[in-house]
Amino acid sequence: MTIKVTWHGHATFSLDIDGTNVVVDPFFAGNNPVATRSVDDVAADYILQTHGHGDHIADTIPLAQRTGAKVIANFEISNWLNSNGVDNTHAQHLGGGYNHPFGHVKMTTAFHGSGLPDGSYGGMPAGFLLTIGEKRIYIAGDTALFSDMALITRGGVDLAILPVGDNFTMGPDDALYAVKLIKPKVVIPCHYNTWPPIEVDIDRWAQAVAAESDTKPMVLEVEGSYEL
Ligand code: NI
Ligand code: MN
Repeated sequence: MTIKVTWHGHATFSLDIDGTNVVVDPFFAGNNPVATRSVDDVAADYILQTHGHGDHIADTIPLAQRTGAKVIANFEISNWLNSNGVDNTHAQHLGGGYNHPFGHVKMTTAFHGSGLPDGSYGGMPAGFLLTIGEKRIYIAGDTALFSDMALITRGGVDLAILPVGDNFTMGPDDALYAVKLIKPKVVIPCHYNTWPPIEVDIDRWAQAVAAESDTKPMVLEVEGSYEL
């Protein structure tokens, strides 16, 4: 089994798990200033929604409606999607895990907001801990640094996807500390260089990760992929 992780820019990823496509936080070209791919050109069987902010949910409804993908989101966002033309949802909440056909998905704590684009209450923001076969992936979501990242990822993870852009989430220094807490085999940074307030010298950050931890930094180009 292989998992191909593709970055679409900002915090949007696709996981191709032997042909099952899981899209994280749909935010594509036309909405996402750094994305090159159109939401009309994305395959999805499942959508993982970390929280309700527009830079994560702007393209969830069109993607879910076109593909019929099941959206995994917190209870509040799941209900909001049901009220906005998306029937195929699976609600979870913080700390709760569920065996989906492609793997086990645990919804994890994140420290952030989650208001929906129309002002509706979006519940608590989240991250995801995925167990897919023997592989474990931690997607932190938009969050500040918190020491329970070590608790959440106990037992080790093969890949951590962490925000590093500062201003709205952890910045480079805190994200480096998060790497030292989580000790993933590989880290992919995200949520940077989308707009001026979150500009980061990502090569410098990757050099610091390589120098100060045993984790391999994997800086992806937009539409670039990493296979694990
Ligand atoms: Ni956000
Ligand atoms: Mn965000």
